[in-house]
Amino acid sequence: KQRVLSGVQPTGNLHLGNYLGAIRNWVEIQDQYDNFFCVVDLHAITVPHNPASLAADTYTIAALYLACGIDLNHSSIFVQSHVSAHSELAWLLNCITPLNWLQDMIQFKEKAVKQGENVSTGLLIYPVLMAADILLYQADKVPVGEDQKQHIELTRDIVNRFNHQFAKDQPVLKLPDPLIRKDGARVMSLTDGTRKMSKSDPSELSRINVLDPPEQIANKIKRCKTDPVRGLTFDDPERPECNNLLTLYMLLSGQTKEVVAAECQDMGWGQFKPLLTETTINALKPIQEKYQAIMDDKSYLESVLRDGREKAQAIANQTLTQVKLALGYSLPL
Ligand code: TYM
Repeated sequence: KQRVLSGVQPTGNLHLGNYLGAIRNWVEIQDQYDNFFCVVDLHAITVPHNPASLAADTYTIAALYLACGIDLNHSSIFVQSHVSAHSELAWLLNCITPLNWLQDMIQFKEKAVKQGENVSTGLLIYPVLMAADILLYQADKVPVGEDQKQHIELTRDIVNRFNHQFAKDQPVLKLPDPLIRKDGARVMSLTDGTRKMSKSDPSELSRINVLDPPEQIANKIKRCKTDPVRGLTFDDPERPECNNLLTLYMLLSGQTKEVVAAECQDMGWGQFKPLLTETTINALKPIQEKYQAIMDDKSYLESVLRDGREKAQAIANQTLTQVKLALGYSLPL
């Protein structure tokens, strides 16, 4: 079987962008692959973070993977910082990655502008750590949202450079492909349909979290940005909010685009918003219930992460050894 690797940062909890752009797809394809799903807590400290909540947030994301339907018969779940090969490979790859490749990354430029002089070196080399995450497992496919595409292209550039410079006869690193589904690949903010839904948006009203209680979901949808036009349509560039909300309804209700387009073409917002609210609450309810059950039994979650770590470590250490040998290192005796 081909291998899949993907991950989410434990900064706050999951929002609908993370769920619809990434995790939902992991769940749908998991039985075709051998999967590794990582909670990328080393990435979480590339911007200022709260030490008091890092461990709890990490457990929350791992529990949400399970609650969303990750199946341990096909997949392993582990914490990035528990497998030290991630940091080690990232260092080795940093030394062969040209600085200007990293300075050109869109996400770095966006985040760096926001933070001004406080921007850390970690934020710059963040994509190399992500490359290490993927390459340690020799992953064939990386299912992500649209915003991660450039990072996977960089990963491919690093693979080609490494194999060319250090492993000409027998490639050591495997070229991964991004797996980006069209629908849901870019879920937009509820308060501005031209910006993506994001954990770092200061406004809570801009996103719906997977763990939001029903009242909060209702309030966020009630207050979300719309337009004065009657009749709802997909794909009108003048109506980004309309396209986003219809897409959310389509994905959360599990209906096709044609059915949703026909159902909503004569609707006004006053009719659509309660429908979207009810659909969202119903779609998230089973995830929330499963999450609660998992959090009630911490020892189960701990055993899942211990197993995941063991499986991950065995594979990661093999790749790390091959990379070190290719670079000319002696191995510890
Ligand atoms: P992160 O934690 O920002 O997001 C996790 C996943 O959610 C997707 N996503 C979205 N999809 C659609 N619409 C949105 N508004 C939206 N916002 C986020 C992301 O594309 C991602 O798939 N660098 C990664 C984490 C990472 C990783 C990896 C991913 C680290 N190592 C190795 C894959 C493989 C990140 O910050 O994702």
